Amino acid sequence: MAVIVGKAPGKIILFGEHAVVYGQPAIAIPVNKVKATARVLPDFSAPFGNIRLQALDIGLDENFYDLVQEHPLAAAVYLTLEMLKPESIPAFTLQITSTIPVSAGLGSGAAVAVATIRAVSSFLGKPLPDTAIADLSYEVEKIHHGTPSGIDNNVVTYGKPVFFQRGLPIEFLEINQPTHWLIADTGEKTPTFQTVSDVRKNQAADPQRYHEIFMEIGETTQQAREALIKGELLSLGKLMDQNQSLLQKLDVSSPAIEHLVKSAKDAGAYGAKLSGGGRGGNIIALVSPSQIDTVTSALLEAGAVNVISTKLSKGSE
Ligand code: MEV
Repeated sequence: MAVIVGKAPGKIILFGEHAVVYGQPAIAIPVNKVKATARVLPDFSAPFGNIRLQALDIGLDENFYDLVQEHPLAAAVYLTLEMLKPESIPAFTLQITSTIPVSAGLGSGAAVAVATIRAVSSFLGKPLPDTAIADLSYEVEKIHHGTPSGIDNNVVTYGKPVFFQRGLPIEFLEINQPTHWLIADTGEKTPTFQTVSDVRKNQAADPQRYHEIFMEIGETTQQAREALIKGELLSLGKLMDQNQSLLQKLDVSSPAIEHLVKSAKDAGAYGAKLSGGGRGGNIIALVSPSQIDTVTSALLEAGAVNVISTKLSKGSE
C-alpha cells in the first residue's frame, strides 16, 4: 500500500471578513505558494486500528486515541472516521506538515483539516468529494473558531477564488483580467476566534451600529466582485481602502497593520487592507506587475516579517 498524500493551499480574504460571519458576502482566493500536507503511511507492523499522529514541526508524536476529540489536529481524523464508519482500519501514521503561518489570516487550520480529511478518506478507500470535505472541515472550524462563516474551509477545499455568502450556493469567480497581490505579515499573531468573539461582544452591545457597518462592508464586497472580474484596478484599490476603514470601525485593525497598509500605499499600491481576523496577521496590497519589487521592499523596510506575491488569473482558478 503506497503513501497517500492530501494537500490544501492557504487562503487570503480580499473583501468582507467579519461581516461574512453576519451573513454578508466575502471574496477569498487560494494562496498556492503555501500549503498544508497530510501523508498517510501504512504501518504493517502494528495491529489493525492503531493510528499515530505526527506533526513534528510542533513536536507532536502521539497515539491518536490519547488525544481528545477537540484536539486541533485530531478533530479532522475523528470526524472523518465518524462519517465513514470503516469496518476495519489498517494501522497507519498520519504525518502533518504545513508551510502556512499559523494565526496569520492565511487559513492554516482549515487547510490542515482539509488535507487530513482528503488523505485519511482516500487511505480508507472512500475518498470524499470536495462538497463533503468542505462540510466536514466546517465542523472542524467550528471546534476551533466557535462561529466561523465557512469561507475559509470552502476556499481551501476547492482551491478557487470564491464569492461566498452564508446560506447561498458558493460562487466560483470567473477571473478575466489578472491581478497581482502582495501579502505582508505584520509578525503579530492573534487567533481568529479572539477577534471574531470580540466583534461579537461589541455587536451585542450596539447591534444597530454594527448592522450598518456590516451592510456597508457587504455593499463594498458586491462592488469589488464586479471590479475584480473586470480587472478594474483603480476601483478595486479604492474599495480595499474603503473596506479597511470599515474594519477600523470594527476595531480589528492594529498599529502594525496601519503602518504596513500606509507603507504599501505610499510605495504605489492601488489599495491595501488587513486580511482575515485582523489585530495582526497579514495585510494584502493590490499592485501592478511593475510595482511588485518596489512595494515589496517598502513593506520589508516597514517591518513586514515576510512578503508573498500572488497572481490571480484564469490559470490560477
Ligand atoms: C477569517 O479568515 C475570516 C473571518 O471573517 C472569520 C470567518 O469568516 O469565519 C474573520
